Amino acid sequence: MKVLVTGGAGYIGSHAVVELLARGHQAVVLDNFVNAHPATMGALATLCGQHVPCVRADVRDRPALRAAFEAHRPDAVLHFAALKSVGESWERALDYHGNNVGGLLAVLDCMRDCDVQRIVFSSSATVYGSANPSPISEDGVIAPQNPYARTKAFCEAILDDCSQRIGGPGFAVLRYFNPVGAHPSGLIGENPCGIPNNLMPYLCQVASGRLPVLRVFGNDYPTIDGTGVRDYVHVVDLAIAHVAALDFRQPNLVVNLGRGEGYSVLEVIAAFEKASGRSIPVQIDARRKGDVAESFASPALAERLLGWRAQRGLEQMCKDAWLWECRRD
Ligand code: NAD
Ligand code: WQD
Repeated sequence: MKVLVTGGAGYIGSHAVVELLARGHQAVVLDNFVNAHPATMGALATLCGQHVPCVRADVRDRPALRAAFEAHRPDAVLHFAALKSVGESWERALDYHGNNVGGLLAVLDCMRDCDVQRIVFSSSATVYGSANPSPISEDGVIAPQNPYARTKAFCEAILDDCSQRIGGPGFAVLRYFNPVGAHPSGLIGENPCGIPNNLMPYLCQVASGRLPVLRVFGNDYPTIDGTGVRDYVHVVDLAIAHVAALDFRQPNLVVNLGRGEGYSVLEVIAAFEKASGRSIPVQIDARRKGDVAESFASPALAERLLGWRAQRGLEQMCKDAWLWECRRD
């Protein structure tokens, strides 16, 4: 298949490109580089042993998007392009809806005009809000609690509506839990702009001395050690799931992508200290607004329908995240 990868220069998209090419597919990246480094395309070429075509464009720029569809004639789209910071989405709600919802609409328009039949969409466990006890299965309540989460829930609904049309596209909605880690080569990984919000990139920067101390947001949750529990999943495992979702032959699919087990913040810190050989200065702080005590997936449906199961454990996630931190600029 030839696959248009929107947001393919970003964190998860770049790893998906590697897995697509490794399985004999072709990939064309379309990215506006709002949250990506142009050097990623060079790293991808090194890693994949081939040039990866890249269109620098905004998905909302319909003429540019249409031109990319016409020039490259993709069979399917992996749609990663989006803004993804929960905190920022409160400050920039209109930008988030415009980019994330508007971007999807533009992609679906071009798919219809160019008769492209399959889209794999990056959704998030954040659509479940705090309404569901873990393990969370796909029939859980959708209760998004911030503008970012709502963009994802709206996009899911749009995909569902559009696929009802005769000849409408088939979709796979993948609800990621907590993506972490990096490619084991150390050539690609997450490149957060500014100070990271998420635990793993923050930990990396404390370990490397870029940041002084890790604040642990709450140690009074009803969890194993009082700190928040999440379902961390290696980005390479996630990337592999996208190839499986492209190959899935039934029209529509909504699945969780997680490991089905949770780790607390303190457990992640301990694993990271072991993997990096660095000790992490920690300060216990108040709970972060909007956080839930624990969130982990039921990954059974992804295994049943896609034959996908995450293979890489917490140790590997920390090791690869640390290698990337040591190698990136
Ligand atoms: P990322 O920011 O690294 O990648 C997104 C890419 O899309 C970037 O390269 C950015 O430049 C590009 N982009 C953004 N808006 C664009 C636009 N209008 N036109 C063209 N390109 C645009 O983020 P990521 O972590 O790789 O996330 C990929 C997808 O997965 C996003 O849709 C995100 O919401 C979703 N997701 C991420 C996480 C996570 O924790 N990383 C969790 C759940 C879901
Ligand atoms: C994990 C745990 C924090 C930072 C977010 C988004 C979600 C999805 C994935 C996009 C929590 C604790 C964190 C720190 C800490 N993204 N923590 N100190 O909040 O589960 O999910 O990323 O779709 O939508 O909300 O991930 O990595 O921010 O937090 O103690 O400096 O680490 O409280 O318990 P989260 P996270």
